[in-house]
Amino acid sequence: MQEKRRAQQIVSLAKERIGKAFEDLRFGRALNVDQLWPLVTGINASISRHPGALMGVTRLKDRHEYTYLHSVAVCGLMIGLARQMKLDPALHHEIGLAGLLHDIGKARVPTMLLDKPGPLTVEEEIIVREHARMGFETLMSGDDGLSTNERLSSIVLDACLHHHERMDGSGYPDQQRGNSISLYARMAAICDTYDATTSARVYKAAWSPAESLEYLANNPGQYDPEIVAPFSAMIGIFPVGSMVRLTSNRLAIVLEASEPDELMPPVSPFYCIDSKQLLSLRRIDSTIDPIVGIEIPSRWNLPFFWQTRATILAHFDGSPPIE
Ligand SMILES: [Fe+2]
Repeated sequence: MQEKRRAQQIVSLAKERIGKAFEDLRFGRALNVDQLWPLVTGINASISRHPGALMGVTRLKDRHEYTYLHSVAVCGLMIGLARQMKLDPALHHEIGLAGLLHDIGKARVPTMLLDKPGPLTVEEEIIVREHARMGFETLMSGDDGLSTNERLSSIVLDACLHHHERMDGSGYPDQQRGNSISLYARMAAICDTYDATTSARVYKAAWSPAESLEYLANNPGQYDPEIVAPFSAMIGIFPVGSMVRLTSNRLAIVLEASEPDELMPPVSPFYCIDSKQLLSLRRIDSTIDPIVGIEIPSRWNLPFFWQTRATILAHFDGSPPIE
């Protein structure tokens, strides 16, 4: 898919620039927001050409690039969600920048805590939670290299400060509730949680897209159901990395986002349910073995699943020809 190649280039540049922005802040240098605007333009253009391509490219993250790629992924998700919700196109750039900068306060959190291979202590959790307020203060204080806030709207500032607020008041830092949380912070909460839960971390395995969407939909006390619905529609029925069952009674992994409104993406069958046998690596077009439905990995007792899925996604990232 041509857009996948373009999306890979856009994501690679974005990862580098946002990584530099985090590094600048970490070493006390000013954040250059002007360098970030063209990234949002590129991401916006990619999402408008093919919403699923960029989102597929940001799925696989290694340990050290997690925070940067997460920022790029949330930027793409925010723009896609704004489009799905038919918000004013004039706001899409601001909404994308809000996604890109929502976790910028993590530049002020020790990396040993961000990469800690295990649960945080209560004291460590308090420090990590400070990232929301520290990011907001950075963007407000002039340490961001801007003379005024004219290039950073309330959308960007509020999503940074309040993306961990929850509908029932259980979030932080201000324990805001319901619609007192801004629309953009409620959108950021969903995009942030979706990308975080579907990414493997040092201390936890990734959830499949279907599991994450189910979690968001089943927690209306935390995530605004009026936004979760368009978010689920935007992610699509068969997101990249989903486990699906094929007509042949094989389990498979979705390799690429299908065209919008098309339900037959390329897949890699990896397990035969009837013979209980693992299958060799191959990529097929699901038009020849149609998808019956999405499956939730945790409901299958397949201890090899996550490793197999990671191997399949890494192996077919170069998109070899379909059988
Ligand atoms: Fe955050």
